[in-house]
Amino acid sequence: MSIADRVRYPDFLSRIMTAEQAAELIAHGTNVGMSGFTGAGYPKALPQAIAARAKAEHAAGKPYRINLWTGASTAAECDGVMAEAHSIGQRLPFNTDPTARKAVNAGEIDFIDMHLSHVAQHAWFGFLGHMHVAVVEVLGVTEDGRLIPSTAVGNNKTWLEIADKVILEVNTKPPAKMEGMHDIYYGTAIPPRRVPISLTHADNRIGEPYLRVDPSKVVAIVETHKGDRDNVFATPDENSNKIASYIIDFLAHEMKMGRLPREMLPIQSGVGNVANAVLAGLLTGPFENLLGFTEVLQDGMLDLLRAGKMRRASATAISLSGSAYKDFEDNIDFYRSRIILRPQEISNHPELVRRLGIIAMNSMIEADIYGNINSTHVMGTGMMNGIGGSGDFARNGYLSFFVTPSVAKNGKISCIVPMCSHVDHTEHDTQIIVTEQGLADLRGLSPKQRAQVIIDRCAHPDYRDQLQDYFDRARQQGAQHTPHILREALSWHERFMDTGDMRAP
Ligand code: COA
Repeated sequence: MSIADRVRYPDFLSRIMTAEQAAELIAHGTNVGMSGFTGAGYPKALPQAIAARAKAEHAAGKPYRINLWTGASTAAECDGVMAEAHSIGQRLPFNTDPTARKAVNAGEIDFIDMHLSHVAQHAWFGFLGHMHVAVVEVLGVTEDGRLIPSTAVGNNKTWLEIADKVILEVNTKPPAKMEGMHDIYYGTAIPPRRVPISLTHADNRIGEPYLRVDPSKVVAIVETHKGDRDNVFATPDENSNKIASYIIDFLAHEMKMGRLPREMLPIQSGVGNVANAVLAGLLTGPFENLLGFTEVLQDGMLDLLRAGKMRRASATAISLSGSAYKDFEDNIDFYRSRIILRPQEISNHPELVRRLGIIAMNSMIEADIYGNINSTHVMGTGMMNGIGGSGDFARNGYLSFFVTPSVAKNGKISCIVPMCSHVDHTEHDTQIIVTEQGLADLRGLSPKQRAQVIIDRCAHPDYRDQLQDYFDRARQQGAQHTPHILREALSWHERFMDTGDMRAP
């Protein structure tokens, strides 16, 4: 299928140009809002042209950097190439690319780590500055100039609304039959004009299938024909399978006790291998007719849909491995009626997460004995990826799980620590912690009760005695609501610093 078949709005045909020509429209210092969410729906041609332009400008002794805002992570051909060309000044709100991560941790890129549900509204409020250019991947343009969204919606609706200029990358690779899968809600307003969002079931449609754009803002159309990043997952290992089985047994128990409705509540699953393993566990678990209300639809959820275990899934992006993507493409008629893609301000909206009673499952770097969670910082200073949507779901979910293997770096460091080296989620937002050692149900427990359950159930045997010793001694001094020996707690991570592979990621 050619670009002429995809761009059905005649006025735009004269604006088709190369990525290199379009990159000339983006000046040094520009705030650029790009599409892209968890390696899906990001622009594939323009970032490379921007990187090439940056290298040429730098070679000529001129400065060239842009500030890059997206939905969430992109890929090597977007964040990666631009970071490699030193062309990113500020970056928000999430990144998983290793080259960009290195530049963040080297202090070269100013990274702003934000709750994903906050980004669109903060942009609207003017908290982030002015957006000059939006670069958005779409699948096509309708006869009346509306845009067919791609594999990720992310913040595209907002970027198209607030940017001065718009560059569209029309990607002819994803199936044209994705048209109609999306649900773009235009009812959000800024306070004091906000009204309730009328979504009462995870699979409600409350918007329209297309993105709107003011045609006069569209300054360039660039053609691409490329798939998204291959989001490969490791086959679930023994630890991930154990974590998954504890969660499934726990959910079955909650249902038996009448604390979880028989029809189950919609599921959110975070990013990473463990999260995917939990979804794989649900495949053989006792629950039927599930609903997904999540931000990223990964392989595990596609499998649940395919197997008929899940009836519908709502997300903001489809982020799949190569083989799962092929299944999606080959069976697009099946999936298009079962998947709804929304803007991230809706997929992650606290009002909706609370109303729908989402079961939130997110991975973490470490938890402390009181239930505070570090999702982002290795050894307290090095940024891994960002908080992503974990906070949107954890605080507002019906049940909130945080999962991790009990040790990292081949057992050289415990993921259960006396005090987190950085806190993303406080003890107030954590209900259940799960490692391959067991599950700690923290609901209704005081700090001291929580500490004992976490040490007993979640700590690795190699570290359990040290943690117990710390807790016992802390209970003999100072105030006894949340006992700590601060000097010791704060130096816990220091002794791992010299082991070589603990440097910033
Ligand atoms: N101390 C030091 N390093 C640690 C660690 C710890 N306690 N725990 C994990 N790590 C390191 C791992 O060694 C690994 O590093 P490597 O790539 O150099 O080997 C890295 O962190 C990732 O860990 P991994 O075990 O591969 O976990 P994962 O793929 O399940 O990802 C998170 C875990 C926490 C990084 C990931 O889930 C994340 O970014 N979460 C935050 C955002 C989020 O929750 N989004 C979902 C909302 S929908």
